[in-house]
Amino acid sequence: MPCMSLPGLDVLVSLIEAEVGRALSATDLDAGSGEDRSVLESLPSALRGLVPSERPVPTSHPALGRWLDPAVESAPEQQRPLAAAVRALAPHLTWKSAYPDAPSSPTMRRFWANYAFAPVATPEGGVGGVGPLLSAEMSLYLVVQGAGIEYGRHHHPATEVYGIVSGTARWLRGDHGFRSRAPGDVFVHQPDVVHATTTGVEPAISWAAWLGDLESRPLLETSNGSFVKV
Ligand SMILES: [Fe+2]
Repeated sequence: MPCMSLPGLDVLVSLIEAEVGRALSATDLDAGSGEDRSVLESLPSALRGLVPSERPVPTSHPALGRWLDPAVESAPEQQRPLAAAVRALAPHLTWKSAYPDAPSSPTMRRFWANYAFAPVATPEGGVGGVGPLLSAEMSLYLVVQGAGIEYGRHHHPATEVYGIVSGTARWLRGDHGFRSRAPGDVFVHQPDVVHATTTGVEPAISWAAWLGDLESRPLLETSNGSFVKV
């Protein structure tokens, strides 16, 4: 792995690779399918192929000021190194709200103020803009979601792997309904599967890795049933 130089960056990528390896060695793989397993099996080589990009312009977000420290500090023992890497790297990333063009509503205003994502790695033209790393085959994002926040139903053509660093929350995946997911869980959203996340009393930190179509933006279902882009 090249020297990536930003605080926490090389540690973050190495620990995510370790998380994927741990998920693959778990016997039930979150009850995932064989397709989910093959997605996870393709991630380590993509992570090892990340190279430094032009540095992103650091941009903070109100959600970080409110939720990053409490979420890092509530991470369980096993996830503390990953949480510490997120905290070290966070000031150097470009944090954004998602779906700024969605119709305003109390739910969306809470979401905009309390949910932020930042690209860590993207290709040229990838969703979310520039991160500190470049890849032609994957994107990697960090996500901070405050307590009591609803990230509604959305989908995208990219295959997605989520890993939870901190915060137990309720996650929807396709027809399986909402279920509780906890720190250390690693799971797959296959292309165009509708998913959603609702936090309870705990803020959440997660990483999301994309494979496949890295340029098509996610679509969020609005209150009138139409969809808006991220
Ligand atoms: Fe997603």
